[in-house]
Amino acid sequence: MKYYIGVDLGTSSCKLLLRDAEGTVLRTVTRTYSVSYPHPGWSEQNPEDWWEAFVSGIQSLLAGFDAHAVCGIGVAGQMHGLVILDSADRVIRPVILWNDGRTSKESDYLNTVVGKERLSAMTANISFAGFTAPKLLWIRENEPENFAKIHKIMLPKDYINYRLTGVHACDYSDASGMLLLDVEHRKWSEEMLEICGVSMDRMPKLFESYQPIGTLLPEIASRLGIPADTMVAAGAGDNAGAAVGTGTVGEGRCNISLGTSGTVFISSESFRLDANNALHAFCHGDGTYHLMGCILSAASCNQWFCDSILQSTDYATLQRQIEGSALGRGDVFFLPYLMGERSPYNDTDATGVFVGLRPTVTREEMLLAVLEGVCFAIRDNVEIARKLGVSLQYSTVSGGGAKSPLWMKILANVLNLELRIPATEEGPSLGGAILAQAACHGGKITENAEPPIKAVIVPEETLVALYERKYRRYTKIYPCMKELFRELKEDS
Ligand code: XUL
Repeated sequence: MKYYIGVDLGTSSCKLLLRDAEGTVLRTVTRTYSVSYPHPGWSEQNPEDWWEAFVSGIQSLLAGFDAHAVCGIGVAGQMHGLVILDSADRVIRPVILWNDGRTSKESDYLNTVVGKERLSAMTANISFAGFTAPKLLWIRENEPENFAKIHKIMLPKDYINYRLTGVHACDYSDASGMLLLDVEHRKWSEEMLEICGVSMDRMPKLFESYQPIGTLLPEIASRLGIPADTMVAAGAGDNAGAAVGTGTVGEGRCNISLGTSGTVFISSESFRLDANNALHAFCHGDGTYHLMGCILSAASCNQWFCDSILQSTDYATLQRQIEGSALGRGDVFFLPYLMGERSPYNDTDATGVFVGLRPTVTREEMLLAVLEGVCFAIRDNVEIARKLGVSLQYSTVSGGGAKSPLWMKILANVLNLELRIPATEEGPSLGGAILAQAACHGGKITENAEPPIKAVIVPEETLVALYERKYRRYTKIYPCMKELFRELKEDS
């Protein structure tokens, strides 16, 4: 018997998954942690919290299984977060996360002074607040004492891999989101490193996601109770990991993820660029490439509205109270920009907004507007892909949002696209386990087969027409709000 551990180092939790060599998922375990919001629009986490969640998660994951049969670990992690270590490999400051909007000035500098054209030529991407390079500029400007201490730079999942192996490594898919990688040629961009004032020796060594970076440090192996020769794969950004986990490899396949963030991930066998850089052009975890749009708040909008406003974590019961006949019809709209927005607006000032409230509006109508608003924001990204000539046949869906049949029905009809829901919504951790297995056997990711599908949702003509009308109205709200968002930000 051989076991592979896949890990999703997410924003709200660390999810671990145990899989055998035949592909059977034997157990999943989740350990939650919190995000700190030191200022409006900022978000940070402490890498030690990730590590503790990972270690305690492994112990529960393996309870009752033969831990000696573990052969490989693969971690897929939240992208873009800047982990900086000093010369003794100690974490210098809390990690500034992917949805942190503090770097709008630095990001604007990169886009306007360095210029979008040059950025795109160097990295295949333009700057978005939340990417890693503008965070380096922010630290250089605002915390020069911390900047001076930087000895190694890495991404969140690389920190776990470093604690496991002692190796400073990064894979191409995750490195793509740093705005420091020459994505097309799969190497660090010397020019971008120079712009950010960082020398090449500060950067981790690059690997393909399915390549092993090393085995466990002996003291870690004994703490985890697994063999010291357990192979650690380079791993992937969570979206590339989810794509591997949902069989989104090969040409033109699509996976939509509805986790804290929402993403539209389109795999591509060759390097492709969106001429406007509205979609990110990143490396994939299988050695190829992908295009991706990312909204900063997806399932997190539902979580916020249910937990904080409706004061209930029983999402299924709340959603059951929504009348099926209300779908696509009401006049209540929600803009899901709780943390500003990345794709397509690149606007850190944007906030969440309800439109269309009247004395008769019920909480069910507001909850429905939240679910619909997230789907409309996802559609904004699908529209860009369609305009690029990408013709989507269907999409898999992963992440917590995929658990909701109502939300999936809304999404399929808003997008007018068939959705296939895998039996396990744990895309990134499943992808991590597949990468771990590949790392152990010197294999590439050739697994083109989709995981078992538990539901297929086909759009319905009447609902598609209703949502087409509602989406057209939705697209008119952001332009009306844009100037006010800026004024509100200036006042705060
Ligand atoms: C992708 C992105 C998010 C995070 C969330 O560009 O920023 O999907 O990876 O974990």
